[in-house]
Amino acid sequence: MKLTDLPDSHGHFGPYGGIFVAETLMAALEELRVEYDKARNDPAFMAEFEYELKHYVGRPSPVYHAKRLSEQYGGAQIYLKREDLNHTGAHKINNTIGQAMLARRMGKKRVIAETGAGQHGVASATVAARYGMECVVYMGAEDVARQSPNVFRMKLLGATVVPVSSGSKTLKDALNEAMRDWVTNVESTFYILGTAAGPHPYPMLVRDFQCVIGRECLTQKIGVEAGGSGVESGRHAATLTAGTPGVLHGFRSYLMQDENGQIIETHSISAGLDYPGVGPEHSWLKDAGRAEYVAINDDEAMAAFHDLCRFEGIIPALESSHAVAHAKKLAPTMKKDQIILVNLSGRGDKDIDTVAKLSGISL
Ligand SMILES: Cc1ncc(COP(=O)(O)O)c(C=O)c1O
Repeated sequence: MKLTDLPDSHGHFGPYGGIFVAETLMAALEELRVEYDKARNDPAFMAEFEYELKHYVGRPSPVYHAKRLSEQYGGAQIYLKREDLNHTGAHKINNTIGQAMLARRMGKKRVIAETGAGQHGVASATVAARYGMECVVYMGAEDVARQSPNVFRMKLLGATVVPVSSGSKTLKDALNEAMRDWVTNVESTFYILGTAAGPHPYPMLVRDFQCVIGRECLTQKIGVEAGGSGVESGRHAATLTAGTPGVLHGFRSYLMQDENGQIIETHSISAGLDYPGVGPEHSWLKDAGRAEYVAINDDEAMAAFHDLCRFEGIIPALESSHAVAHAKKLAPTMKKDQIILVNLSGRGDKDIDTVAKLSGISL
């Protein structure tokens, strides 16, 4: 089977993915699957999507040679795929435009979203404003505090931000609440899911709306996970490195869970990576040996964050800093004429409070 054939018609990537939801959502997911199938075969829809990516997002995003950083790290040349230069400051906008266009096609006037770092929330609030829709964003109370600039941006854009105080007060809990809202308001509401996870067809459609990044730069892939305080400490979110397969939020994938299938709380300095699961396609790629996954801990990500600020004049998102930190390890093992391309998924404006606090500075 070719990778491009996946997922199968029921949303499976090998043993991962699928649909594990309440009966109430089955019809809505089927409606979405059918509508997306029509949309992706509709030249007018695809042309409008491409137009929006070009004129609203500002694509294609540049590939930038980070010369000073490459010299500093020694070895391979480091290039950055500048998703941080997209409108709203991260890769999230690509997917939200696609899903908002589907919502409009399906006649839904209300959209909901979950968010961790706030970048998906901001992107959802942005497209809701652009297409004239009501927007409600669920966000863990801890993330509301640590990503406060993004909370205000969402409010400026007209969205309602609902802090979620259950569980670990982070992304997993925001997803729980968003799914609860969707079950209750499924007739009027479109759920804009922010990552390539959740029940079928979400992992497929988020992947398809984001594949513009990969198409602009075909490369071999290494996934970098959040190692938190170190994988051996147990305080981390390195799901593919240390997790086991199970079911959460409507799909099967690698998860952080105990022997009874109870979810273990995760930790990462980056709110956007602080989640006990991972998209099902990544689980499949890991098992198939088609992609490599590594973990970078908080301290390593922080050091890379500062490197990029000082050597390149670019303030990266803490999520993206994990990828830069892995390049820092890899570059010295490679030759000077070899290339590492880092997907700089977003900018770090949202993270300055976290970085200041960790550096003992009060703003
Ligand atoms: C800047 C940034 N990079 C990466 C991620 C993770 O994105 P994905 O779930 O699409 O892998 C997030 C999520 O919030 C983010 O804000």
